[in-house]
Amino acid sequence: MIIAIDGPAASGKGTLGKRLAQHYGYRHLDTGVIYRAVAHELIRQGADLADETRAVRAALELDPDTFGDPALKSQTMGEAASVVSAIPKVRLVLVDFQRQFAMTPPGAVLDGRDIGTVICPDADVKIFVVADPKVRARRRALEARGRGEEADEAKILADILARDERDQNRPVAPLKPAKDAYLLDNSKLDIEAGVRAAIDIVEAVRAGRLRV
Ligand code: C5P
Repeated sequence: MIIAIDGPAASGKGTLGKRLAQHYGYRHLDTGVIYRAVAHELIRQGADLADETRAVRAALELDPDTFGDPALKSQTMGEAASVVSAIPKVRLVLVDFQRQFAMTPPGAVLDGRDIGTVICPDADVKIFVVADPKVRARRRALEARGRGEEADEAKILADILARDERDQNRPVAPLKPAKDAYLLDNSKLDIEAGVRAAIDIVEAVRAGRLRV
């Protein structure tokens, strides 16, 4: 089974996918990390984030061993990822990697922005996660402080809104729910409740109780 989790950068989205994967014994890929890794490489080279040639090369030479690098988690890297991810050729180069991951047994949970629409349009279950931007900003600030970073909640909110705007309006693979995605609003849910809600959706789809 393939489970696609998309949606704006709701904080904890990666955790939701990871927990869902653990629950079902599936593999998990937080696809945002891929774009963060490409951005990180460009920054390391001192290159412009909009440099298509270098961005494509970085995407082709992507090393999954670097996905755990804590430097990828920062708010700045999320912003930078949003810029490189708007380059159509970069997205194209990364399609196969993601599809291979999705199709490898025993099953997979992928989270990102375009999993249900572009990468795995035939995913068995698609969940589109949303949350109030103010709540997301608060969660991001708490996470950043937890990592020992300084966090200005108003700036984080402005960044989130700018990033959503860019993700939703780019010409290639814009952030939008697939027609057959189930909406999950986790503004008022903590991570445990969010995971339970997601499992309920998966179970209902599997039992044929939920249809779009
Ligand atoms: O989810 P995360 O915050 O790690 O994503 C960082 C950025 O990477 C997003 O704002 C988005 O621009 C881009 N992204 C994407 N497609 C994905 C995952 C992330 O365009 N599947």
